[in-house]
Amino acid sequence: MAESQIKLYYKNVTTDVIGNENGISSEQLKGLAEKTSPLIAQLNRERKAGQTPYRDLPFDKQSPQKVKQLASELKGRCENLVVLGIGGSALGNIALQTALNPYMYNLDDAQRKGPRMFVFDNIDPVQLSGFLDWLGDNLQDTIFNVISKSGRTAETASQFLIIRQLLTGNLGPEGYRKNVIATTDPNEGTLRTIVKKEGLQSLEIPRGVGGRFSVLSSVGLFSAAMCGIDIDELLAGARSMDTRVSCEDFYKNPAAVNAVINYHFYNHGKRISVMMPYSYALKDLADWYRQLWAESLGKAKDLAGSEVHIGPTPIKALGATDQHSQLQLYREGPNDKLFTFLELSNFDKKLKTGPAPDCAPELNFLAGADLSRLLNSEKKATEYALLQSNRPCLTILFDAVTAYTVGQFIYLYEVTTSLAAELFGINAYDQPAVELGKDATFALMQRPGYEKLAQQIQPFIEIDGDFLV
Ligand code: PA5
Repeated sequence: MAESQIKLYYKNVTTDVIGNENGISSEQLKGLAEKTSPLIAQLNRERKAGQTPYRDLPFDKQSPQKVKQLASELKGRCENLVVLGIGGSALGNIALQTALNPYMYNLDDAQRKGPRMFVFDNIDPVQLSGFLDWLGDNLQDTIFNVISKSGRTAETASQFLIIRQLLTGNLGPEGYRKNVIATTDPNEGTLRTIVKKEGLQSLEIPRGVGGRFSVLSSVGLFSAAMCGIDIDELLAGARSMDTRVSCEDFYKNPAAVNAVINYHFYNHGKRISVMMPYSYALKDLADWYRQLWAESLGKAKDLAGSEVHIGPTPIKALGATDQHSQLQLYREGPNDKLFTFLELSNFDKKLKTGPAPDCAPELNFLAGADLSRLLNSEKKATEYALLQSNRPCLTILFDAVTAYTVGQFIYLYEVTTSLAAELFGINAYDQPAVELGKDATFALMQRPGYEKLAQQIQPFIEIDGDFLV
């Protein structure tokens, strides 16, 4: 049987559909295709030269093997898997779980193929203590996967210190070692030092793979494998997409067409990029995309060092829910958005409505209707309404939500991001603006070496009563 696929549909961004003022013409697309073909070739060369290591992840044999081995050793003896991480060390794990495991996975033992899974990507004391209260004495059968590439991220490190104390206090040093898996840089960083000194089990994040490009490394694969997701299929989907996004024929390359359309519309006043899945399973992929797009493309300087302050603002929305929250703005507010729908042809389940009561014949049109048909009709209806307001709409069509198509989607958007960065002339792989906030946190937490910064911050954080109403 042929594998399910994803495809990019872009007719509804063209001048034919939304007019000359708002759409992209075939001449404009042709001009951009000519500009982009050499960039695809350049990305292919950079990839061969080992400059974009995230592109090698789907082809890596060793790391998935180690992940599967460890998962099979641990699965039998654990009821809960807790991921501690933030940003790129958490969003991919959440997205895979929502996409590929049943909605009631954590609550229904019959439906889950592995431990319950919890991801803590925040340091809210109420949230974490709420979980720990629920967990109580069940530490023995709970595995904690602490993920931090740098090993110095304050949020993840502080959660880790809580868990370390809890485990050593309750299970002793041996129990602590048995129940923690650290995922971090192969050689460097605080977490790697702890792994070596305290004898923790560990997985590696390959050098040069940034957090938001790391979901197909052990960062995302371990929790997926523990929870019964077919990681071989996930990687196979990414590999199949690799062939498509390496194609130097622009019109056959979905990442190139996607990047160019996003680039064009950004330069024509559509500074906001809305991703709107019409499938609950796909909803957290939009959250994963939001980080990938924002951290990779939001940059002050271009590659030549000139100030550019570039960056489309990614927004996530969910169909049909946000039709009743955002659509009014999307249609009648500023025409500053490019919409990308995620549409699913085959839902895993069929669910038909019952008959309408005699007293409500106006509901007869819904009687016996399949919910997936209703949801997809709402997607088409929303898109139609947006097109009537001359708003450009792309769609990623999923035949089905499977590990294979999710792997395709992840890889498509990673390479789209790399190509969009080439078009904007910026570096997709750094995040210099995030560092100051991290350093300021260290300063406020009185970390030695940050005393001067702490003084500089002081005037900005004191509450000035004159402005308090
Ligand atoms: O994409 C990124 O690089 C970031 O979002 C990081 O993943 C995030 O800041 C967490 O960093 P670390 O994994 O080093 O703890």
